[in-house]
Amino acid sequence: MSKYVERFNTPERVLHWFVTVTFFTQLLSGLGLYSRLFVGYQDFFGGGQGAILVHKIAGILFLASSLLLFLNHRREISAMDDDDRRWLSKMGGYLSREPFQENNGKFNAGQKLFGIFMGMATLVLGVTGIVIWIPLSFPRVVVQLSLLVHGLIFVLFIMVVIVHIYLATIGNPGTLDGMLWGRVTRLWARKHHGKWFREITGQEKAG
Ligand code: HEM
Repeated sequence: MSKYVERFNTPERVLHWFVTVTFFTQLLSGLGLYSRLFVGYQDFFGGGQGAILVHKIAGILFLASSLLLFLNHRREISAMDDDDRRWLSKMGGYLSREPFQENNGKFNAGQKLFGIFMGMATLVLGVTGIVIWIPLSFPRVVVQLSLLVHGLIFVLFIMVVIVHIYLATIGNPGTLDGMLWGRVTRLWARKHHGKWFREITGQEKAG
């Protein structure tokens, strides 16, 4: 019996890393527009105009790919069951020293909330971004509100993505394998996503 089970297929992994690359391109090209403190980052894109151009192109690619990622996972993240509620009430065991026995489907409750946040935040960033892109087509107050919301959601997004990266790497060893190679060990699957593991292997009890 193989030591591994499949976690993500190739198109899913390509999409995830495409979103990641466009996200960080957005971040680097947008930082200088957000605050003068980061204006030096625009040199990566040949100056202010170059950074704005890259921000627009990467913005369209991020909007499209990130929404696609959300739609791809929508079924797995759209409902919470009793195990998810227990996970939330214990905060996944992350804030306590007591052992916490998880019983998650493909994604735990935190990942579900992250996925939903990501979909909604992408939409808001996209819509406000378009308003800022063609400001003369909208009333002044709408443009000003869009600038404010675009900046606020961006800060929130960065904070949430930092937590996501930590939890998906050193926070939970073995998790990154699924997104790199498509497969995770049976041991990892049983420990973190027992319900999902039993579903895909048809095993009633861990074994
Ligand atoms: C270096 C950056 C990143 C790393 C190392 C990383 C790693 C991972 C890993 C390992 C998974 C699979 C989790 C599992 O099997 O349970 C995952 C899932 C996911 N990632 Fe990332 N990721 C990164 C950046 C991003 C970014 C920038 C976004 C969105 C803007 C994103 C959105 C997602 C989503 C929606 C999922 C599926 C649901 C979830 O696990 O919450 N990731 N990521």
